[in-house]
Amino acid sequence: MSIPEKLNKDEPMSKSHFKFMIKHFNKRDKDYPPLNKIRKTKIKEGSIVLDYGCGPGSYSIAAAQVVGDLGKVYAADIHPLAIDEVKNRVREKGIKNIETILTNRDTNLDENSIDVVLLLDIYHHLSDPKSILEELYRVLKKEGSLSVDDHHFKDDEIISKITSTKLFKFSEKKEELFNFKKV
Ligand SMILES: C[S@@+](CC[C@H](N)C(=O)[O-])C[C@H]1O[C@@H](n2cnc3c(N)ncnc32)[C@H](O)[C@@H]1O
Repeated sequence: MSIPEKLNKDEPMSKSHFKFMIKHFNKRDKDYPPLNKIRKTKIKEGSIVLDYGCGPGSYSIAAAQVVGDLGKVYAADIHPLAIDEVKNRVREKGIKNIETILTNRDTNLDENSIDVVLLLDIYHHLSDPKSILEELYRVLKKEGSLSVDDHHFKDDEIISKITSTKLFKFSEKKEELFNFKKV
C-alpha cells in the first residue's frame, strides 16, 4: 500500500503509537459505545458516510450498522495499520458496507456524493486542516452534514476553526459533537 503523492505534510504516527492507540480505543469504546456518538450525527438508514481519520474503525463500524444494506461507509485514514485493522474487523464481523481508503487528504470520491462526513478526534492531528476541509466540502452533498469532535479544543475553538474556512456553518451541538452544514 502506498500513500498518494502531492498531498499535505501529515505523516502516519509510529506503529507502536498506533498500536497503543488501538488499546486505548478498545477501552474507550467499552466505556462510551461508538453507537451513542453516531446517534448524535445525521446518519440514518441508507446514508452514505465518510469517516475521515477512521483509526481502527470504531465509528465506521457503528455507522455501518445504522446505514444498513442501503447505505455505505467509506473509512479513510493515513495509516496503513488503520486500514488493516478496519479490514480485519470488517472481515471478522462479516460487514459488507464498509470500503477503506488510504490517504492523507484526497479521497477520490465523487463530488456531492456523501451525506455525512465524520471528523472525529482527528482535527488536532492535521498540519493543513483547511486543505482537508476543502476535500470534505467537495465530496459532501449540498444538504450534507459534517460531524466534528475533538477534545483537544474548547467548544468555541472547534466552531471557529471549522467556520473560519467559510466552507461550513455551525448547525448544532449535541454534547461533545458539533454538526456543521455546507455554506
Ligand atoms: C486519534 S485517531 C482517531 C480515530 C477515530 N476517528 C476515532 O475517534 O476512533 C486520529 C486518526 O487520524 C489519522 N490521521 C491523521 N492525519 C491524517 C490525515 N492527514 N489524513 C487521514 N487520516 C489522518 C490517524 O492515522 C489516526 O488514525
